[in-house]
Amino acid sequence: MQINTILVTGGAGYIGSHTCVELLEAGYRIVVIDNFRNSKPSVLKRVEEITGKTVVCIEMDIRDRPAMETVFAEHAIDAAIHFAGLKAVGESVADPALYYDNNVSGSLALLQTMAKFGVHTVVFSSSATVYGEPPSVPIREDFPLAPMNPYGRTKRMVEDMLRDLAVADARWRIALLRYFNPAGAHPSGLIGEDPGGIPNNLMPYIAQVAEGRREKLSVFGNDYETVDGTGVRDYIHVADLARGHVKALEKLARQTGVLTYNLGTGQGYSVLEMIDAFEKASGRPVPYRFAPRRPGDVAICYADPALAERELGWRADRGLEQMCRDVWRWQSSGNDKIR
Ligand code: NAD
Ligand code: WQD
Repeated sequence: MQINTILVTGGAGYIGSHTCVELLEAGYRIVVIDNFRNSKPSVLKRVEEITGKTVVCIEMDIRDRPAMETVFAEHAIDAAIHFAGLKAVGESVADPALYYDNNVSGSLALLQTMAKFGVHTVVFSSSATVYGEPPSVPIREDFPLAPMNPYGRTKRMVEDMLRDLAVADARWRIALLRYFNPAGAHPSGLIGEDPGGIPNNLMPYIAQVAEGRREKLSVFGNDYETVDGTGVRDYIHVADLARGHVKALEKLARQTGVLTYNLGTGQGYSVLEMIDAFEKASGRPVPYRFAPRRPGDVAICYADPALAERELGWRADRGLEQMCRDVWRWQSSGNDKIR
């Protein structure tokens, strides 16, 4: 099938905005929908600035079914990339209903509207979090799914929903992309990760400490069985991740059914290695102290990315140094202060 116009839900967000850049550069037309709960409209202006192309953007909630129907009625959508969702693990424990409503009901509203308008091609943002505590590393796609918090369970539920839809109707073309730890920013410094409030994730926290906006990083646990006692993760450059979506779409244009891929590098780094790399890239100190383990954290998590390489011809080619350099360029640009 021919894919020309893509609906990008959550396209103003961190991964969505970088994927919009890749899609526009690959020649696709895009329609972004976002309620800006965790992003700013100015991001899409930046995407236009980077690419020299225009972005159609509609401010709406994916749970608003009439609005969703209008989008499909007014635009000749061929496929959707579905980023819109809430992603803070702690918040999902405190308010699980919010997460089931936003992430699961929201996805259902999207999928039912797609089917109603005869659109059956979708790429879904899943997460390595669906594996929970893996039996071993590297993690393969056929490992058991055992998410350990409500956020992770919303991801598994939407995966389940999509697998069931594909069984019932052979027209579906579905890619489940399980991201490991997205980090980095666009090399222009114009777009990047912009967490509101105190960052939950390591990389933006380190960047804010280096900038001087926060005093010290708390390193959660130094008694894990890892290289230096701190947690090990598979950090993947957001631009590599974004390119993986374009590759997945290309594959879906040729194939029906459900495809599931880990998007990671296959390489793990500890928290202390991340601090060291960021200090070198930024030339700034990142003071830290050891703190107790964060509940629910696993010691080591990294991908076996071989399937995506074999079937999509995709692999991450940006390393840790470039990730840190790009984050620092973004963080020190002040661009995140603009609405
Ligand atoms: P993000 O918060 O930056 O982007 C999500 C976007 O969706 C935001 O712009 C937000 O305003 C929008 N949104 C949320 N709920 C919405 C709704 N009901 N209607 C319309 N728009 C809505 O997050 P991100 O890091 O870019 O993540 C994108 C997707 O990838 C999410 O589904 C997330 O769960 C998943 N994911 C993220 C990570 C990560 O570490 N960043 C890892 C694995 C998976
Ligand atoms: C990385 C490492 C922490 C912050 C989370 C979600 C997961 C996925 C990606 C969406 C761990 C340590 C962190 C800090 C620290 N998101 N750390 N001090 O936990 O691997 O994954 O984001 O799908 O679902 O759970 O990423 O960046 O929070 O932590 O020491 O202030 O850094 O303990 O070892 P995590 P993270």
